[in-house]
Amino acid sequence: MAVEERTECPIAHIAFIMDGNGRWAKKRGMPREFGHRQGAEVFRKILRRCCELGICASTYYVFSTENWKRPKKEVDAIMELLERYLDECEREMEKNDVRFVFLGDKSVFSETVQKKMLHIEDVSKKNRYIANLALNYGGRSEICMAVNKLIDEGKTNICEDDITGALYTEASPPLDLIVRTGGDLRISNFLLWQAAYAEFYFTDKLWPDLVPTDVDMIVENFTTRNRRFGGV
Ligand code: IPE
Ligand code: IPE
Ligand code: MG
Repeated sequence: MAVEERTECPIAHIAFIMDGNGRWAKKRGMPREFGHRQGAEVFRKILRRCCELGICASTYYVFSTENWKRPKKEVDAIMELLERYLDECEREMEKNDVRFVFLGDKSVFSETVQKKMLHIEDVSKKNRYIANLALNYGGRSEICMAVNKLIDEGKTNICEDDITGALYTEASPPLDLIVRTGGDLRISNFLLWQAAYAEFYFTDKLWPDLVPTDVDMIVENFTTRNRRFGGV
């Protein structure tokens, strides 16, 4: 679909907890890394669909601050996939008019990876659809980071809007919906501040089984929700 044909979507900001890669691989008698490889393919397709549907911002939980606890072999495989993706990003950003933003503390990554991330963020800055990739991301640590940033700026009395504006997601519209695949009903330290009035969509489908038309269906389901934001 050409960019001009894209119409406005009822969802401005959707977030995905892309869970279930390991179980998907296990079901096939394969190592967990195999699931992550498939998961990365699915991520590419879902991101494209979100852009086609005209969703202004989509956020993807790629690697949490707690995921470092996993075996080195698995972590290394995820980091390798990440590097490969960073090398392809420029094609993606041009084709789909995507602006990439990396959520999380970049300082733990190698100099090369950090440079690539900063370069991608910089060259895609003017693009239309935001793709937030949460890498070494934790919701609690994000809030601490935001508060410390405000303190460094000399703020002594911090309000809610100050924090919202100091988070990694400052360029994105308010969060409408969090989708979690893999059947677990929890938030796992994801977008804690942003989730205040977000809707939730849980599915038993494992992330590598998700298909682009599932996003259409999820958007359709979202339109039936009655969001009251504490009102009547
Ligand atoms: C999500 O899938 C990907 C990451 C957390 C990096 P998992 O690897 O958690 O898959 P399951 O939940 O063990 O099946
Ligand atoms: C959440 O999945 C993190 C990502 C999808 C990157 P986890 O598999 O790490 O979450 P828990 O451990 O089941 O809560
Ligand atoms: Mg998991």
